[in-house]
Amino acid sequence: MKDSTLLIPAPLRAYMLAHSVPLDAVQQRLIERTTALPEVAHWQTAPEQSALITLLVRALGARHAVDVGSFTGMSSLAMARGLQPGGRVIACDISDDWTPVATEAWQAAGVADLVELRIAPAIETLRALPAERYLDFSFVDADKEGYLEYYEELVVRTRQGGIVAFDNTFRSGRVLEPVKSADHAVIEFNARLAKDSRVEVVMLPVADGMSLAWRK
Ligand SMILES: C[S@@+](CC[C@H](N)C(=O)[O-])C[C@H]1O[C@@H](n2cnc3c(N)ncnc32)[C@H](O)[C@@H]1O
Repeated sequence: MKDSTLLIPAPLRAYMLAHSVPLDAVQQRLIERTTALPEVAHWQTAPEQSALITLLVRALGARHAVDVGSFTGMSSLAMARGLQPGGRVIACDISDDWTPVATEAWQAAGVADLVELRIAPAIETLRALPAERYLDFSFVDADKEGYLEYYEELVVRTRQGGIVAFDNTFRSGRVLEPVKSADHAVIEFNARLAKDSRVEVVMLPVADGMSLAWRK
């Protein structure tokens, strides 16, 4: 886990985390296991995002949640913990490289039965979901070039008052000075989202930027 973010220096972030819901043993172990992975450790959803996701899922009374980019399982775990009884998370990932780490954490947390892992390109998984407005909460944290397509599939399936959330909408500040193709993709995505009359958008300075689209 990084000890600072783009906007919050390490001491203030430590203070923030110390005064928010603490990580439990399952999350701490998941952070340790993910931190040990070469090259991809930084992909993990941050503790403050994880806490926010659980809070939002609880506040929405959610039963139907979707996680686009489940990786080692932190965001799906956060959603599963906030669900109402009978709720489910559809966890999407294109790779099963990290599935053993994720399922170990979900089992340790007692939520494995609440998470349905679907290994396939996320766009295929999303297009196969029922064509109804039934989703309460979704969190998108996969390939940035796919954000617009994922959004279009999710927004038409999200109930009135539901939320579609997106990670990395600051791109480490590069939305102001793009360098990579993914930066341009997120700039276009952010602009389209802000103009979409189907939703009200709040962009939060949490971790690397987190946009919440509230469905009208
Ligand atoms: C930043 S990680 C997600 C972190 C995760 N949300 C967590 O809680 O730690 C991005 C994930 O998206 C997955 N991914 C990338 N492209 C994808 C695609 N086209 N469809 C589905 N998953 C994809 C990657 O395999 C990776 O596991």
